[in-house]
Amino acid sequence: MEAILLVGGQGTRLRPLTISTPKPLLPTAGVAFLAHQLARARAAGVDRIVFATSYRAEMFEAAFGDRAYGVDLVYVSEDEPLGTGGAIRNASRALTCGADDPVLILNGDILSGHDVQAQVELHEKAAAEVTLHLTVADDPSRFGCVPTGEDGRVTAFLEKTSHPVTNQINAGCYVFRRSAIDTIPEDEVVSVERETFPSLIASGAVVMGYVEAGYWLDVGTPEAFVRGSCDLVLGKLASPAMPGDPGERLTLPGANVSPGAVVRGGTTVGRNAVVEAGATVLGSVLLDEAFVAEGATVRDSVLSRGARVGPGAILDGVILGDAAVVGPGNELRDGLRVWPGIELPATAVRFSTDA
Ligand code: GDD
Ligand code: MG
Repeated sequence: MEAILLVGGQGTRLRPLTISTPKPLLPTAGVAFLAHQLARARAAGVDRIVFATSYRAEMFEAAFGDRAYGVDLVYVSEDEPLGTGGAIRNASRALTCGADDPVLILNGDILSGHDVQAQVELHEKAAAEVTLHLTVADDPSRFGCVPTGEDGRVTAFLEKTSHPVTNQINAGCYVFRRSAIDTIPEDEVVSVERETFPSLIASGAVVMGYVEAGYWLDVGTPEAFVRGSCDLVLGKLASPAMPGDPGERLTLPGANVSPGAVVRGGTTVGRNAVVEAGATVLGSVLLDEAFVAEGATVRDSVLSRGARVGPGAILDGVILGDAAVVGPGNELRDGLRVWPGIELPATAVRFSTDA
């Protein structure tokens, strides 16, 4: 089976991590995020993938070349971003399959344990034009809200609506009949969510929902990105691309974790990164050459390449850009982001609200 992978987005919600690296290439459990998607796609029977790129297009080919994880890879770039639907249409130029064959379409920021083969089987059995993987979300307003009828047919597609009619959402993995892709206008900016799906449904085409609510995560926000990396390390989602066995932590070659440090919760310690004695690192991502000094505490955070945390500093839910430095004694929390190269000086006194 052939697939199209949508990887042209700018990943703005993940800045400053995505200033230098597109979201799908961010190191996640020791390898580029997409490695997990490629390896899982291969396991589901995909043998050729067309990358639909736009933002920093050249970096994808440099990362994966023409074959990776047992899948042949082709790259089709948009000069200007064409939106999700326009990107699918544009990338379809590189498909080689027949008009009625199923094509898998994947959002490039999803970790999913769902059964892709079962989704394809439902698609074929229903002779559908499109079959969407649907899951459930606590807050459906952040996603595409997708109600279905008793027969499993999709009855509406409401992208990011403030009035969701169900908590069933679009999980970002579609099977398209090859010829259904040709109904998307060529060389135009088109949203598959706001235009293509609603118009297919309105035209009476068979659009099916494949509902499976297993492990699923969109890694588009900093919190979700850290969660996804840790879940892979902990083995909550199996990935053939994981460079090591599941466990409390993944330590890459050249990393130096003191025996007197506590590092767990699915933390990845990157190449040549250092965690000193007395430091605690929980559920975090330390990229290559990151440094955590003695007595520091880092939780649910990302330290980009070469970022440094000084002695006794506390980070909780924080993103440090490349080579950012947090001086001794600082306490940073709750979604704070430090841009690359910024240095926060040491705090002389830590103020306490205790009487
Ligand atoms: N090539 C290309 N060109 N790719 C694009 C473009 C474009 O113009 N715009 C977005 N993409 C890619 C992104 O890189 C990402 O992999 C995918 O399309 C989806 O874009 P996101 O920006 O991540 O969308 P979202 O997370 O807000 O919403 C989408 O995913 C949800 C599930 O996570 C929608 O499909 C929702 O309906 C869905 O629920
Ligand atoms: Mg997304």
